[in-house]
Amino acid sequence: MYSTVLMKSNPSRRRFMGSVGAGAATLALRPLYSRNYLFGAPPLPGTDNFVHLNLNESPYGPSPKALKMIRDAVSLSGRYYYDLAFGGLAGELTDHHELDGDFVVTGAGCTEILKLCDDLFLGPKLQLVVAEPTYDAVIQYAVNSKAEAVKVPLTKDYRHDLAKMADAVTPQTGMVYICNPNNPTGTIVTKDEMDRFMNRIPESVTVVVDEAYSHFAGSGYESAVKYVKQGRNIVVAKTFSKAYGLAGMRVGYALSNEDLIAKMRPFTVDYAISALSAYAASAALTDSQHIERSVRLIAEQRQALYAELKKAKFEYIPSDSNFVMINVGRPVGDVIDEFYKRKILVGREFPSMPNFMRLTIGNADEMKKFFVAFREIFKV
Ligand SMILES: Cc1ncc(COP(=O)(O)O)c(C=O)c1O
Repeated sequence: MYSTVLMKSNPSRRRFMGSVGAGAATLALRPLYSRNYLFGAPPLPGTDNFVHLNLNESPYGPSPKALKMIRDAVSLSGRYYYDLAFGGLAGELTDHHELDGDFVVTGAGCTEILKLCDDLFLGPKLQLVVAEPTYDAVIQYAVNSKAEAVKVPLTKDYRHDLAKMADAVTPQTGMVYICNPNNPTGTIVTKDEMDRFMNRIPESVTVVVDEAYSHFAGSGYESAVKYVKQGRNIVVAKTFSKAYGLAGMRVGYALSNEDLIAKMRPFTVDYAISALSAYAASAALTDSQHIERSVRLIAEQRQALYAELKKAKFEYIPSDSNFVMINVGRPVGDVIDEFYKRKILVGREFPSMPNFMRLTIGNADEMKKFFVAFREIFKV
């Protein structure tokens, strides 16, 4: 039953390709989580009657092929899944991105890849250049590494200010982090902006591009994988948590040039991805239809949300992702509480954008419930 997966992996790739990450303590309450969790234990989706529009998960979940694989692979739980973990999944990802060589490190979510990058490229007296606001786990890990985070405010239209980020680079810069599309604003760095930035940035500085939400981006967007192919000093971080709908499985990966991959590998934690997760990701890769469908349905619901917000005269930031920032015109904390009372979880507060609420796009039924609460809370 598993032989299809096992046979698929190219034997030439069955070299040691250690995987990353610990994934431990993910149930602990941490500030990265929504303020809603302060009300008690995190509710379980599907069992709590809450609508979960807070963590940018896909309401369409995993591909049926991934679900079947998870069930089929349960019996492998007693093994270290040697084949798939040590070469198979990394090999499949290499092929998926049309690379040829040792270009992939896998990890327990994109989060572990970001931590690994901070561990490797930062340290005391070194600087991380980032946008503000952006996905802040990378900043937390930099602080843990005793590095300094240099935060560059977004432009007036809430996009990365790449010119100012390039200006902020100094001999102490260990790493520049670009979140594209950006969490929490959903905005993108365009192909031309990225080209200009990469032409300016010294080759000695490592650029980490987080493409967790790349599947949702529209025109003007281009993946930074092309710079990996050019052998630039860049790491592209990706995940199965968003469009693939496998957030709970904890699978992410980095694409980079062979030299950087070799440097990253000793920082990985072997066997960090579970057997079930590795097999699920492998199966998910084969179902492009599921991704296309999920992305299309999310785009439809995003349009419906825009229409509702326009009607109610609410400002929002047009998004290239599966979440939208809405200006609620007052500090968002109380608004989050109001939605919580109506059993709707929305995104947490972002201190530099105090009046904005980040809303994950749900399915039609979830969005209907959101609209009912929205009209009630804002009396529109
Ligand atoms: C920009 C960004 N990067 C990484 C992650 C973490 O992804 P993963 O579940 O793969 O660790 C998230 C999760 O929300 C995110 O928004």
